[in-house]
Amino acid sequence: MPVVLLPTPDNLQRAAERLRAGGLVAFATETVYGLGAHALDPGAVAGIFELKGRPLFDPLIVHVSSTDRARELSAAWPDVAECLATRFWPGPLTLVLPRREVVPDLVTAGLPNVALRWPAHPVAQQLLLLADCPVAAPSANRFASISPTSAADVAAELQHDPDLWILDGGPCTHGLESTVISLVSDRPIVLRLGSLAVEDLEQELGPLTVANRSVKESELQSGLASPGHLSRHYSPRTPLRLMQAGDLDAARERQQRVGLLCFGAQANSSSAEDFAVIENLSAKGDTREAATRLYAALRLLDQAGLDLIVAVELPPQGLGRAINDRLRRASH
Ligand code: TXA
Ligand code: MG
Repeated sequence: MPVVLLPTPDNLQRAAERLRAGGLVAFATETVYGLGAHALDPGAVAGIFELKGRPLFDPLIVHVSSTDRARELSAAWPDVAECLATRFWPGPLTLVLPRREVVPDLVTAGLPNVALRWPAHPVAQQLLLLADCPVAAPSANRFASISPTSAADVAAELQHDPDLWILDGGPCTHGLESTVISLVSDRPIVLRLGSLAVEDLEQELGPLTVANRSVKESELQSGLASPGHLSRHYSPRTPLRLMQAGDLDAARERQQRVGLLCFGAQANSSSAEDFAVIENLSAKGDTREAATRLYAALRLLDQAGLDLIVAVELPPQGLGRAINDRLRRASH
């Protein structure tokens, strides 16, 4: 099993040294746990792809300790980048910008752009400051699996690496990946829905286009789409069926052991008693709380020995949109 470390000053220092020397360190961020490597060291970055079983055409987010550090990696810094960084960094927003040559091809999957994020979690921030280098980090799960929102989740996902260090920063406060926005063309485009609601971005930028469609691997290789949008992603091993709230009563399958993933008052539906296990993402109907609990609830249901998980769509506003996006991909 990997080694779980509390974020004491001593452990943070050792972890930072390990990163600088080309090793891998998983660490807490406010969105999900990341699997980090020195972003300017291609050998270190290769270790991420190997450990995750991630295809090389899927680019990585580079984590930095300040806006100035982000600017050192991007070939252009338009006003819109300054505006979003000022308003939302540090935080759950990733900016895609033209890259500088120092950023290795392996990090960007050969794309001319780099994805940059300054995270807000104190463990991530201290690690980045001590390591004093940009850190490439995808979510710390096996490729296409459920993203980890605790150190124990990371240890379970990546248990085949006994040399991995995990910096434990407690459960993630957002629980859903960062929102990814591309600023490389004249009009910003949201590439991935995430922990920052599109409505919040639109307050700064006006109406936004969301490139929210499933893509095939061929499209990824052409560099036109975001790999977070592979149609199968974020998936439990148990089959998952997604339905609209109104269809729940038609979902009875008595022969099977079925689990229910629901939201708010959906748990009071007349058919709820037919389910072997019920996970309510937020009894009070709060999408923020639901985002925080989503991946942990999927993991619990996946471990409950079920034949099927039935998930019910959330109202498509705010983080409800991002959660529905993840459920759709989990159901593929
Ligand atoms: O919250 C998060 O974003 C977490 C934490 C650890 O920061 N990281 C994360 O990384 O979710 P990952 O690798 O699981 O997802 C990265 C997303 C993918 O959808 C990827 O396609 C997109 O960012 N991405 C990365 N570099 C890109 C680039 N140069 N152009 C377009 N999309 C890019
Ligand atoms: Mg991921």
